[in-house]
Amino acid sequence: MTAPIVAPSILAADFAHLADEVRAVQPSADWLHVDVMDNHFVPNLTIGLPVVQSLLAVSSLPFDVHLMITEPRRWAPAYADAGAYNVTFHAEACDNPVALAKDLRSAGAKAGLAIDRDTPIEPYLDLLPSFDTLLIMTIKAGFGGQRFIPELLDKVRTARRHVAAGHLELRIEVDGGIAADTIEQAAAAGADAFVAGTAVYGAEDPAEAVRRLRGLAER
Ligand code: DX5
Ligand code: ZN
Repeated sequence: MTAPIVAPSILAADFAHLADEVRAVQPSADWLHVDVMDNHFVPNLTIGLPVVQSLLAVSSLPFDVHLMITEPRRWAPAYADAGAYNVTFHAEACDNPVALAKDLRSAGAKAGLAIDRDTPIEPYLDLLPSFDTLLIMTIKAGFGGQRFIPELLDKVRTARRHVAAGHLELRIEVDGGIAADTIEQAAAAGADAFVAGTAVYGAEDPAEAVRRLRGLAER
């Protein structure tokens, strides 16, 4: 397995000082996780393309954009065009995930498939060669600060076995409730990319919190 990626989620940052909050994690973060919510796919509303474009202009971090929106086909390629490193959309919101993954890769981004809490992983395993990242929610998508659900790591284990058997080059990312007391079990289950909002931005020193999480995931 490759070295773990830690992606702080700016959902837990102070939205009045976003550029400063991005800079605060820049020294240690691998990716910056950006949660785009549309109040339709999930009952919460965050930021959209103009804000992401502005943040891209003030950061050198690879952006890991997590689209929790209906109709990802309509919006996802614009995030790739804007310069996002990885664009992830939800399996539940898309009737042709492989076609959209192809579009994202053509636009120069990596393509990610997200699986929400109540969605089984099995129907999607055969699609994984079309993707660069698989985001397995470890909560129900929509809000930060929720409690990690350990049972959802069974999906990570299933995906990791499938990735290993098929020699696929795919990151398995977990999102939701990742913190010092949960990241080790997620890593042991086979995750190699870790989103953390509250655990990073709720810490006194966010950059140090990222380093600490990565250290725990490496063990
Ligand atoms: C929630 C988002 C997460 C969120 C995680 O739907 O996808 O990225 O920021 O927040 P924490 O780490 O606080 O659970
Ligand atoms: Zn997210």
